[in-house]
Amino acid sequence: MTTLSHAARFAARTARLRASTIREMLKVTQRPDVISFAGGLPAPELFPTDAIADATREVMERYGPAALQYSVTEGIPAMREWVAERLTRRFGKLFEAEHVTIVSGSQQGLDLIGKVFLDRGDHVVMTNPSYLGAIQAFDAYEPRYLTVDTDDEGLEPTALEAVLAQAQPFPKFLYVVPNFQNPTGRTLSRARREQIVAICERYELPIVEDDPYGELRFEGSDLPAMATLATRGIVIYCGTGSKIMAPGLRVAWLSISDDEVREKVVLAKQGADLHTGTFAQFVFHEYAAGDAFEAHVRRIALAYAARRDAMLQALAETMPPDVRYSHPDGGMFLWVQIPGADTTELLQICAERKVAFVPGVSFYPHRDVHDGLRLNFSNASEEKIRLGIERLAESIRSLSRTSLT
Ligand SMILES: Cc1ncc(COP(=O)(O)O)c(C=O)c1O
Repeated sequence: MTTLSHAARFAARTARLRASTIREMLKVTQRPDVISFAGGLPAPELFPTDAIADATREVMERYGPAALQYSVTEGIPAMREWVAERLTRRFGKLFEAEHVTIVSGSQQGLDLIGKVFLDRGDHVVMTNPSYLGAIQAFDAYEPRYLTVDTDDEGLEPTALEAVLAQAQPFPKFLYVVPNFQNPTGRTLSRARREQIVAICERYELPIVEDDPYGELRFEGSDLPAMATLATRGIVIYCGTGSKIMAPGLRVAWLSISDDEVREKVVLAKQGADLHTGTFAQFVFHEYAAGDAFEAHVRRIALAYAARRDAMLQALAETMPPDVRYSHPDGGMFLWVQIPGADTTELLQICAERKVAFVPGVSFYPHRDVHDGLRLNFSNASEEKIRLGIERLAESIRSLSRTSLT
């Protein structure tokens, strides 16, 4: 019997869909006695479970079969209008309901963007480091990545300009998470947003603005979306209900003002899943449009702020002096840099001491920087956070005897 080789059985693009060794290592850390800062999960105890149960009953009573029927690819009208109104209120600039497409998680949005823009070998520009899920979504379309360095204010415009001036072939888009970035927790300053939009407009480079965390701000004031700074429709804005309501609903949205891009994305979505679950959209809208939702979002932000504070304090008290970490003004993540360390090695030590994080290397498209790590602060109690950070500090100290230079 002859068996087909991998190359003959599967599409070439699957060669890039690697099972991550880190993910395998992290499986060990899912045991209940391990304090995990590795996941990117919202706090389940803050899910509005009762309110969603009420909304579900209400939807069934009021809409019945309509909420169970096939629907249009763009999303149910009430959801598109809700998204446009919310974005308009938040950013003080008009967002149109016709520009909104409801997607099954912003992760699907990223996949669809990859599908409509990327051929094999095309360039995508992204920050170094970037959201791992975006790299995974784009990887399936076999692009190459041009990375731009970041500092405490996020992506550096001069570095972006230098990359664009030399890029060959010219990139298809820039991917950026401007608010409380996953993985670093950093926020792109207002001045930088303006500069980056101006550069991209000059080069006619589309911007994919991925904003799942912007509503979880603990302090400081909201910054304008890059979509509202652009004078031409070069920005594809991605938002999601995952962090402000519940990720299991898989209700998220794209706002795309360029008609041609939007039509292509909608067609790609039609081929992928016809539409996002009608039922989930109805239930999401029922709760989100009600009076209690705003207070719910504030409650999440307050709880996460307390967890961030607990983590920052524990880091200040326990970390060796050369270890640096970000001070996020919102979101769910914090970034730690340990000069000279390989944080994949550190994870092994940490697993023995029953604490986990994600090694930073996963977030670098070229997998070439090893001294960073991502900590999630939304999914553990303040007490566990303090204990976990103590364990992390002990592990770093023991690593320093072996691999720190
Ligand atoms: C930056 C970023 N984009 C997109 C997503 C995916 O979110 P969703 O649940 O809407 O698919 C995440 C999830 O963690 C994220 O951190």
